[in-house]
Amino acid sequence: MSAPGPASRLLITGGAGFIGSCYVRDVLARRDGTRITVLDKLTYAGNRANLAPVEADSEQAARFSFVRGDIADPEVVGPLVAEADAVVNFAAESHVDRSILDPTAFLRTGVDGVHVLLEAVRRETERAPAGGRRAEPRFLQVSTDEVYGSVAAGFSREGDPLAPRSPYAAAKAAGELLARSYHVTYGLDVVITRGANTYGPYHHPEKLIPLFVTNALDDRALPLYGDGMQVRDWLYVADHAGAIDHVLRRGNAGEVYNVPGAAELPNRDVVAQLLARLGKPWSLVRFVEDRPGHDRRYAMDGAKLASLGWTNQVAFADGLAATIDWFRANEAWWRAARSGEWDAYYDRQYAGRLASADAVAEVSPGAQAAAGAEAVPADVAPGGQPAETEA
Ligand code: NAD
Ligand code: DAU
Repeated sequence: MSAPGPASRLLITGGAGFIGSCYVRDVLARRDGTRITVLDKLTYAGNRANLAPVEADSEQAARFSFVRGDIADPEVVGPLVAEADAVVNFAAESHVDRSILDPTAFLRTGVDGVHVLLEAVRRETERAPAGGRRAEPRFLQVSTDEVYGSVAAGFSREGDPLAPRSPYAAAKAAGELLARSYHVTYGLDVVITRGANTYGPYHHPEKLIPLFVTNALDDRALPLYGDGMQVRDWLYVADHAGAIDHVLRRGNAGEVYNVPGAAELPNRDVVAQLLARLGKPWSLVRFVEDRPGHDRRYAMDGAKLASLGWTNQVAFADGLAATIDWFRANEAWWRAARSGEWDAYYDRQYAGRLASADAVAEVSPGAQAAAGAEAVPADVAPGGQPAETEA
């Protein structure tokens, strides 16, 4: 095993996205000499602006470089892996709803891309014993709790069977199984993390919390799937990035580590809390047609990661407040993220759902209450102004 110490050279793939950029910002801000190269394709979800704080700081900028490219391109990947002490792979298509609309890119990045990275790490691993490099590189694959599938009761442990239920989750399961196979077959130094639902600053507005915060700031409808009682375990982004770094430095080769969150909550409660913080009414919420194959609950046991010495720092109420404050203060960032292909995606995903939700409300004013609105806490359901209808 060759876990990287201080002053190491890290290749961070997908480092311009939500969690990857938090990792880059936090590690470089320690000023311990670590050098980071980000390889990112800059898909609709990747954003150089997420790395602006690093590039604006001359000491950090001197230890940072950025390459725009695809992890599925061996010509780009090979030389970068040759220079790295460790590779942390955040790169993925990450949105479940988009994987349902079209899984193609999920497989290319999540399976072919991971394969290209592993082949490059394998070549470097083989060079190390002959003195071709100073040590074999470590490879950390960032995976997800979604690989366990929906968990009716109890908590998933690392040895549980994988049962992914969306194309996104299946691609993630394939990627981490491939990584594990390279450890078993070729002896690569591989570690895997399975993170819970992550939220925080720089979160792309396609996901639940930033979508609902930014829609609510504009007094637009909030499309809540099904009965809104699906349960997620929310993990603040800096805690997720910190746990990944902890596993990179201290995890045992060939092992998988769950990274649970700090709060198991039904979606309705999350929405109620964010509306309360924003001072916006529950009447913005629309109960819309459910996500196909929607996983009801994710929940993981974190004992294995805790035994490595990791503890989350941020409670959900604090993390949510910090997130909402960040979105309020960074309107230009989220408006830019909601441009380009955003309108076409939004229409495809939500126009029909919102139109039928509104039609139901017009035909039967009690229909939304029957769908569950009665369970909303009274203090956030003041019956304020009606949500605007969206085409
Ligand atoms: P994100 O969508 O915000 O960022 C993904 C980044 O990967 C983007 O910068 C994108 O440009 C880049 N990318 C995509 N395809 C690429 C390719 N072929 N080559 C190079 N770069 C490419 O995602 P995120 O939410 O930051 O998630 C990061 C990782 O963490 C993903 O692997 C995801 O599966 C995993 N994860 C996410 C969560 C969560 O709640 N967000 C939870 C657990 C695990
Ligand atoms: O659990 C980890 C996973 O968390 C990560 O692997 C994924 O990359 C990440 O996107 C996230 O997946 P989810 O599907 O759980 O997150 P999302 O924000 O899309 O949805 C959270 C919950 O909110 C889920 O139950 C679906 C619901 N939802 C979501 C959207 C976007 C709605 O009700 N309405 C919406 O418009």
